[in-house]
Amino acid sequence: MDRRRFLAAVSATGMAIPLELRSLAQSSAKAGVPSAGPDPAPPAKLPDPAAFPNEDPFWAEMRKQFLIPSDEVYLNNGTVGSSPWPVLNAVFDGYKQTERMDQPNPEDYPIWGYDSWNEFRDPLAEFVGASRDEIALVRNATEANSYIANGLEMKAGDEVLMSDQEHPGGEQPWNLRAKRYGVVVKKFQIPKPAKSAAEILNRISDAITPRTRIIFVSHISTDTGVVLPASEIAQFARDKGILSAFDGAHVTGMMRLNIHEIGCDFYTSSPHKWLMAPKGSGYLYIRPEVQERVWNTLATHGWDEPQLKAQRFEMFGSSNVPNLWGLRAAINLCNHIGLDRIERRHRAMADYIHAEMVKRGAESWTSPDPALRCGIATVNVPPIKRMDLENWLWQTKKIRIRGGEPSKLRLSTPYYLLKSDIDRFLAAFDEYRRMNRA
Ligand SMILES: Cc1ncc(COP(=O)(O)O)c(C=O)c1O
Repeated sequence: MDRRRFLAAVSATGMAIPLELRSLAQSSAKAGVPSAGPDPAPPAKLPDPAAFPNEDPFWAEMRKQFLIPSDEVYLNNGTVGSSPWPVLNAVFDGYKQTERMDQPNPEDYPIWGYDSWNEFRDPLAEFVGASRDEIALVRNATEANSYIANGLEMKAGDEVLMSDQEHPGGEQPWNLRAKRYGVVVKKFQIPKPAKSAAEILNRISDAITPRTRIIFVSHISTDTGVVLPASEIAQFARDKGILSAFDGAHVTGMMRLNIHEIGCDFYTSSPHKWLMAPKGSGYLYIRPEVQERVWNTLATHGWDEPQLKAQRFEMFGSSNVPNLWGLRAAINLCNHIGLDRIERRHRAMADYIHAEMVKRGAESWTSPDPALRCGIATVNVPPIKRMDLENWLWQTKKIRIRGGEPSKLRLSTPYYLLKSDIDRFLAAFDEYRRMNRA
């Protein structure tokens, strides 16, 4: 039941409406966000991808798996994805099975953080090109990044090199370590747009010093969506005897990923973005050879047992097990559709919205090299203030985008968007510009 109908039902019963719900309803009514319409019902079954050789009809069918109201255009999967019915149903099943408290083994409880959870680690490891003992299931990329920054053996004066486009969840763990223990954070600049892999590698090469111990960069940056040349960076680092770590928050489910092929020491991600896993699904990859150089950040039993390998980092006490049912279902769904097909769709939609924005005079911050871009297009549209546009689009058109100050628009194009959704955004953008010129 949506909030509006819930409130109507509650007030019809004469029950008091809790204050925070009342103010939420009032603020959204004031803001003029259009009504959500009826709750979408779960469709009877998943479409068979083989039965849909044409793209748009297939994705239109897939769109029905999502609870996002049909009159909403959601262009901000980059912040967080939406979990479709197969994922939600798996979470519900997880609760139904575990909350009965009738596990066959009296020592078995629905708690997470004391066990291997290989039935969830194995499909994830296979999906991302790693092995079970290299993967710890954690809550998100921020947590995984914090385990690296906090736990890696380093001395005061040792340097970490990162880009100027890191997310706070990647940069701040290192700033904390720097303030507390004297590690030094150095940055190189990624051009906007980045034109080639060589240009990025040269900037990294110019910025390393004899004190650089680790290169920590986003595989896909939050700022512009640029896809960094991960395997070349890892190779470069290895050749210099430097560790490499990638914040791949956006990568899992957006595009093909094989961590072993990248050859890095650390990899982190948030599959609740592009894999549409439940919120609070994250993982940390650590190459076996460096695992013993990383201290635990959270400790319960097991923290000092290196033979547990990466599992040591998921020993953090009771947590939310049914999320893992959802994560596994998200992997199954992605495999059902085919990640290649999903990636092609992400690229096609991002390229379309990007080209249309450039036609409208937007400055491109998206790489002209297809290898350095995927499902996020970023443009700069001065003098438009992005927050004014963002609010207007949501309040009057039910279109959700995100950007950065003052005039950057970051447009994420998840597979369930239809071309007509993008055309609706473009028409709204044109209308906003006409209105503001007038
Ligand atoms: C590159 C990058 N790293 C980390 C994060 C933080 O993700 P989470 O909140 O899932 O930890 C984001 C979120 O947008 C991101 O873009």
